[in-house]
Amino acid sequence: MLLPTAGETGIGKSTLMDTLFNTKFESDPATHNEPGVRLKARSYELQESNVRLKLTIVDTVGFGDQINKDDSYKPIVEYIDAQFEAYLQEELKIKRSLFNYHDTRIHACLYFIAPTGHSLKSLDLVTMKKLDSKVNIIPIIAKADTIAKNELHKFKSKIMSELVSNGVQIYQFPTDEETVAEINATMSVHLPFAVVGSTEEVKIGNKMAKARQYPWGVVQVENENHCDFVKLREMLIRVNMEDLREQTHTRHYELYRRCKLEEMGFKDTDPDSKPFSLQETYEAKRNEFLGELQKKEEEMRQMFVMRVKEKEAELKEAEKELHEKFDLLKRTHQEEKKKVEDKKKELEEEVNNFQKKKAAAQLLQSQAQQSGAQQTKKDKDKKNASFT
Ligand code: GTP
Ligand code: MG
Repeated sequence: MLLPTAGETGIGKSTLMDTLFNTKFESDPATHNEPGVRLKARSYELQESNVRLKLTIVDTVGFGDQINKDDSYKPIVEYIDAQFEAYLQEELKIKRSLFNYHDTRIHACLYFIAPTGHSLKSLDLVTMKKLDSKVNIIPIIAKADTIAKNELHKFKSKIMSELVSNGVQIYQFPTDEETVAEINATMSVHLPFAVVGSTEEVKIGNKMAKARQYPWGVVQVENENHCDFVKLREMLIRVNMEDLREQTHTRHYELYRRCKLEEMGFKDTDPDSKPFSLQETYEAKRNEFLGELQKKEEEMRQMFVMRVKEKEAELKEAEKELHEKFDLLKRTHQEEKKKVEDKKKELEEEVNNFQKKKAAAQLLQSQAQQSGAQQTKKDKDKKNASFT
């Protein structure tokens, strides 16, 4: 697996991958407003001189886009570690199948350096330093067509001395095996490779070749006088692919595995230099774990009791308040009831008095009517007597 990484975006990662593997991995530029760095893996099957090559490229999306770049390297480190962890888990299985394991470990990291001609950015140094114990770093100068030839030479040696003075370990082309010793030694001198990427084909003489065209001329990607693209391809795919795998397994993965197993409490020898017993380690870890579990359980129990007590007190308080409210309401209700009854009595009395007065008035009225009628009769009788 290959990891193209750079301290900044738009530096030509996708174009170079397309140029290297004669394919179109990704055409759209990444969106550069991601909140953090994200790693995106894509797998491809390639045909490289009669060899079928299964390759995964993990793109670092958004690296260098954040204002605060302090933690930018973390997702990359986490990704690399996660692949190591997956391999370790497979290795630790009782029934392991490493022979057909789909290895997702990162075998090389192409670190793209901006063609500034000055020096490495601190972000580049920090990132490479964080990665160098985890992955084979191959530094490359991107968009090398934008830097003049004499400047490029100085820039290359400046970068190499900065890497050395900052203790950054880059991938060393192996020179211990006879067949590749010579080529690797010659190629090492050209590091970091200055590369140009392009998928555009331009007619040169009577052949088509990958190149970048400018008003003043043509930069040929595969012309060794123009850039180091061919050297990179040779080193990465043809000469050292197996060594990159081996280094990943024997150096980087081994380191991860050792640290992880030590962290888990495993050792090769005990304090008396006797072989360390796996059974004892297991039991010690188990007891430690059980002890912690019990402690946690006790803490949780106490916390639970405390919470229940708190809730109980809260409920009691609420109940008391409710009782008080109820009593108050009851009292107000009784007072109101008494007032209404008093008023009722008053009104009834008023009604009685009124009825009495009404009866007296009616009596008076009927008496008055009677005496009125008698007087009229007497008057009529008197009239009749006077006529006769
Ligand atoms: P992101 O994925 O968006 O971060 O960008 P990238 O690093 O993948 O860069 P990409 O390959 O998309 O290229 C960005 C721009 O740089 C494009 O316009 C490319 O044509 C141009 N470019 C790529 N390689 C080179 C190169 O070698 N030289 C020059 N001069 N330009 C290049
Ligand atoms: Mg890209």
